[in-house]
Amino acid sequence: MTKKPEELALLAESGRLLASVFALLDRTELVGRSTLAINDMVERFITQDLAARPASKGQYGFAFVLNASINEVVCHGIPSSADVLKEGDIVNFDITLEKNGYIADSSKTYCVGAVNTAAKRLVEATYEAMWQGIRAVRPGARLGDIGFAIERHAKRCGYSVVRDYCGHGIGREMHEAPQVMHFGKPNTGLTLREGMVFTIEPMLNRGRAKVRTEDDGWTVVTDDGSLSAQFEHTVAVTAKGVKVLTLRPDERR
Ligand code: CO
Ligand code: CO
Repeated sequence: MTKKPEELALLAESGRLLASVFALLDRTELVGRSTLAINDMVERFITQDLAARPASKGQYGFAFVLNASINEVVCHGIPSSADVLKEGDIVNFDITLEKNGYIADSSKTYCVGAVNTAAKRLVEATYEAMWQGIRAVRPGARLGDIGFAIERHAKRCGYSVVRDYCGHGIGREMHEAPQVMHFGKPNTGLTLREGMVFTIEPMLNRGRAKVRTEDDGWTVVTDDGSLSAQFEHTVAVTAKGVKVLTLRPDERR
């Protein structure tokens, strides 16, 4: 489950390129754009500007380079010309990128134009919950410590954590061992070792944690129709702590 230094260097390069995809989205006006138009823009950027491969395309029969999950959609939203983003929406773009055989995975929830306070607060709490999980990563820590930190923050803010989806090891394959739960008990689960690479990607709901899959077999929504947000980074366990491989320039802290 650990990567060699040369593999870590390649994963870091994939992560850096994927961060630049989000930097592109950051400077894109989202209001009035369809999620399919955004998918197509991202596909051109990844394939032409970055000479990389969008790893989601073709995986599990999925035809797109990203998942676009709006408002009560928890994850796996399918890009569509019918889904035009409007002021007040929140939308998560979940994107994977492969370069030199190694895959990075990251997602970010965007506030489309001005959003209401409730939505903004959920998005901010979800971002912080992800960081609480990331800050629990170091050699000798255990997977349960990550999940515990995330769920503790979510609960403090009054939100629930989706339990049906988890983070995952990543490398040559998009989904490798271990599974990284976003809830848990401290000092339980697999012990982290230098060279492990995995994602942390909590989904928080304003309402209950329960989710369901729509009739298309893909789109996952909150069962109670409440808003949901998600953030995801790919991280590596280092000798002293953690390195966020998909960190964007604006996130250096
Ligand atoms: Co992802
Ligand atoms: Co992932």
